[in-house]
Amino acid sequence: MADNLDPGARAAAEQKARKAARDAARKTEASGEPVGKKEIVPPWERGAEGIALVDTHAHIDGEDYADDREETLERAKKAGVVAVVTFGDTMEASARVVKMAASYENVFGGVGVHPENVFPFKKEDDDRLVAWTKEKKIVAVGEIGLDYYWEKDEEKRGLQRKMFIRQLALARELDLPVCIHDREAHGDLMTILKTEGRKNRGVIHCFSGSWEMAKELLKLGWYIGVDGPLTYKNAAKLPEIVAKAPADRLLVETDCPYLSPLPYRGKRNEPAYARITAEHAAEIRGESLEDFSAQTTKNACEIYKLQFN
Ligand code: NI
Repeated sequence: MADNLDPGARAAAEQKARKAARDAARKTEASGEPVGKKEIVPPWERGAEGIALVDTHAHIDGEDYADDREETLERAKKAGVVAVVTFGDTMEASARVVKMAASYENVFGGVGVHPENVFPFKKEDDDRLVAWTKEKKIVAVGEIGLDYYWEKDEEKRGLQRKMFIRQLALARELDLPVCIHDREAHGDLMTILKTEGRKNRGVIHCFSGSWEMAKELLKLGWYIGVDGPLTYKNAAKLPEIVAKAPADRLLVETDCPYLSPLPYRGKRNEPAYARITAEHAAEIRGESLEDFSAQTTKNACEIYKLQFN
């Protein structure tokens, strides 16, 4: 990389290269389980009477949906996914999220910088984030957090922690919930949430910790987001957590375009597939899909203060 770039441009170029590598790795990672041969009825063809789910964590601002964004939201509705909360993972994505929330019915937004994309904020970056949170239907600060799976460099992990703490502070000042990403950083996450973050509230999205960790988070008042990996054969601890967690603290999410549930694993994910994860979760808990969706939607409306038709 050319050294004559200014720090901002260098950070942006680095970010872009890292995102490309990550997306490529995720595609390989995701293709582990083959799609079954039996006929698949897509969730939008299963009828949605009595079902009103919220996809509480999506990324539908980007190029993955450039050709069919409206159709994607239509399919979600037909599958019973009546609202979507879409999150920015960079400043650029956050700016797009603000526009989407203003222009699409039942789409809400969160603004923030994801740990893999962090850079040293200046005051003007704080100011931009704060200004965005005042916009229509922006309901949270996120996606923020820690990712030690993709980041091995100790110095950059330090920057992740610093920017996580800074965005937690912004959320407290704004009295907004946060949506947190945590991958292989459980120890540092818990430490931060018990110190700097003890007065924050929000969601640990795509939860990947143990039941012990979940219990601690629940005690601290956090919500737990459940995604497509619940349907994978290697879901490990997640089914246990979904079974044991109190009904009023679970949220359904997709994290689309990543992490498609079976049988769509390895393909582009979309909000309609929240229905599949919800079906699995309801079954694990021994509840009807109708009851589970009503409860998790109530939870989503509580934590993110959503109001929709
Ligand atoms: Ni995400």
